Amino acid sequence: MACLQSLTKSFSGWVIFCCCCYLPLLLTSPLPPKGPGLASTAHHTCRLRKINFQQPYIRNRTYTLAKMVQVSDHDTDNRLIGQQLYVNVRENNRCYLMKRIAELVVKDVLLTTAKDRYPYVEEVAQFLASLTLEMSRCKFSGHREHIEKNLEEMKNKMKQLGENGKIKAIGELDLLFDYMENACTDAPKKGGKKKKN
Ligand SMILES: *[C@@H]1O[C@H](CO)[C@@H](O)[C@H](O)[C@H]1NC(C)=O
Repeated sequence: MACLQSLTKSFSGWVIFCCCCYLPLLLTSPLPPKGPGLASTAHHTCRLRKINFQQPYIRNRTYTLAKMVQVSDHDTDNRLIGQQLYVNVRENNRCYLMKRIAELVVKDVLLTTAKDRYPYVEEVAQFLASLTLEMSRCKFSGHREHIEKNLEEMKNKMKQLGENGKIKAIGELDLLFDYMENACTDAPKKGGKKKKN
């Protein structure tokens, strides 16, 4: 009898314990983030909002840095950012490709460039990094061989040019900015063809 009593006691003790400890825990646990921004980008992980590219401050910084560096780049034969990147790459993979290039430019060029050599390098690196972060779930669809081939060609060209390759990449930041905007933001498209996955 005493045993049963202590059993019910301990049971009710557990009930009280559960109510006291878990209920507040449940109530205060953060809800899964589901802001309007996230909801709208969830379907298009290879998409950026136009507003990212319409901020005069960072646009100016990016262009100013590029223009400044362009004067010391006398090689006009080579281009890193250009239409050659898109050869055999389907339109719906172009944003993914530009994301990869932005990651590359941040990691291999901007973060390894002496910050005191050019102004705004850090700000522009942060801006580009934030864009790639926003597209962290952006993946290619279909075949990746042409994407990788074109990326590899760009990397090789930059490597061959050595330090000048880095300077060229900084001088083309304005192009990178424009290419990313064109590839990754929604433009009203004719036909409205849906991306299939
Ligand atoms: C950036 O802004 C400055 C001052 O507002 C202006 O003089 C300059 O022309 C701008 N540069 C570019 C590339 O837009």
